[in-house]
Amino acid sequence: MGYPHPIHPKETPVLSTHFGDPDARSHAGWVARGGYVALQQALGMTPEAIVDEVKASGLRGRGGAGFPTGMKWSFMPKDDGREHYLCCNADESEPGTFKDREILRWTPHALIEGCAIGCLAIRAETCVIFIRGEYTEPYRILQAAVDEAYAAGTIGANAMGSGKRIEMIVHRGAGAYICGEETALMNAIEGKRGNPRIKPPFPAVAGLFGLPTTINNVETLAAVPAILTRGAAWYAGLSLSSPKSTGTKLISVCGHVQRPGTYEITMGLPMQELIFDLCGGMRPGRTLKAVIPGGSSVPIMTPEEVADCATDYEGIAAKGSLLGSGGMIVMDDTTDMVYQIMRLARFYAHESCAQCTNCREGTAWTTKILERILRGEGKASDLDLLLDLADNMTGKTICVLSDSCATPVVSGIAKFRDEFDAYLSGARAPMTVGV
Ligand SMILES: Cc1cc2nc3c(=O)[nH]c(=O)nc-3n(C[C@H](O)[C@H](O)[C@H](O)COP(=O)(O)O)c2cc1C
Repeated sequence: MGYPHPIHPKETPVLSTHFGDPDARSHAGWVARGGYVALQQALGMTPEAIVDEVKASGLRGRGGAGFPTGMKWSFMPKDDGREHYLCCNADESEPGTFKDREILRWTPHALIEGCAIGCLAIRAETCVIFIRGEYTEPYRILQAAVDEAYAAGTIGANAMGSGKRIEMIVHRGAGAYICGEETALMNAIEGKRGNPRIKPPFPAVAGLFGLPTTINNVETLAAVPAILTRGAAWYAGLSLSSPKSTGTKLISVCGHVQRPGTYEITMGLPMQELIFDLCGGMRPGRTLKAVIPGGSSVPIMTPEEVADCATDYEGIAAKGSLLGSGGMIVMDDTTDMVYQIMRLARFYAHESCAQCTNCREGTAWTTKILERILRGEGKASDLDLLLDLADNMTGKTICVLSDSCATPVVSGIAKFRDEFDAYLSGARAPMTVGV
């Protein structure tokens, strides 16, 4: 059988090769599977050589924005005499996104190895892994793996006998989605309220404790060891559509598919194949209605847009949405789109840090208006009001949580307007929306 699902022939297991294998969780088990060879290699390389290799691989950030990783690392100062930090973002709280969890649960040493290599690349001696508070089992597994890596001398004051120091701290969050935003994450680690900071200064200039810092997602860092051992050219060659999207991508698929789960695909696999072949398609007798492809913060796609879409940064952008984190929410024809969009807006209203007025008020008002439409108490002018609010919530705040709330509302009204109209006209029966 294997890991929750057997590997499908259209999957490309790199990160997921050892998912489902509990023996891969231990330090000895990881070493037996070729682990820490890449770190040994990196310890003999200059920071520039590591950065160049990652640049050549085409690796882009897997946390959502898709920023080229090697380029981000190259922004860190050189010979400045100050301490540098690497922060690994394991906050993973975006609705529909649960792919980092599988790395943390099954191959924690892949992440530790990637973090250690990342430290070498940016001249940092300390990596802080900020892990979502609710991830209790992943935390236990990760902390045990860090302890084992210290005990084996793989990390610590004299990492692998190299004379180089690599410290690793696992810091647990306290259950706030906003702490996944990189500057809020640094505030949280510093013991402050997890509010995003205004940029500039960017983290590479003034980050954790005011010192040069790079923040990378779990999947981004876990991809680095294989890039070093198998080569940048190999990684760059993993691309089925756009040469700007390389490597593999973990996609967590949830919703109305027959086999929800986390799948590893080569960048560019047709979305249709992902949903219908890997995930087994819709439940019996049901048809595809909508897909939110990149976590909950990106525009909703219709079946027509899904039909010929390559699952990579460029392919999804060409359809007006975003790959984002790679958390895919699939909805069939039983879905009430107005209700689902309200549920998302309610999430963002709950998670707003309330620092920016447009976000604090906008997410709350968006939720209230959607709730009243669902209760059958909407006004004819409500859709224009929602769009006006969305406009005031986009590009106007310190971070993009506000934009993330507005995005499904705007695309939902554009693509599923008849469902909103049905509530407004009374053609659809009102519902109780609770709180
Ligand atoms: C509200 C909000 C929540 C975020 N949550 C996460 C998260 O849980 N994990 C993550 O890796 N990135 C998250 N991000 C993106 C990070 O700010 C950052 O771009 C990312 O960690 C950079 O890593 P990468 O370059 O490897 O993708 C979030 C951004 C925002 C605005």
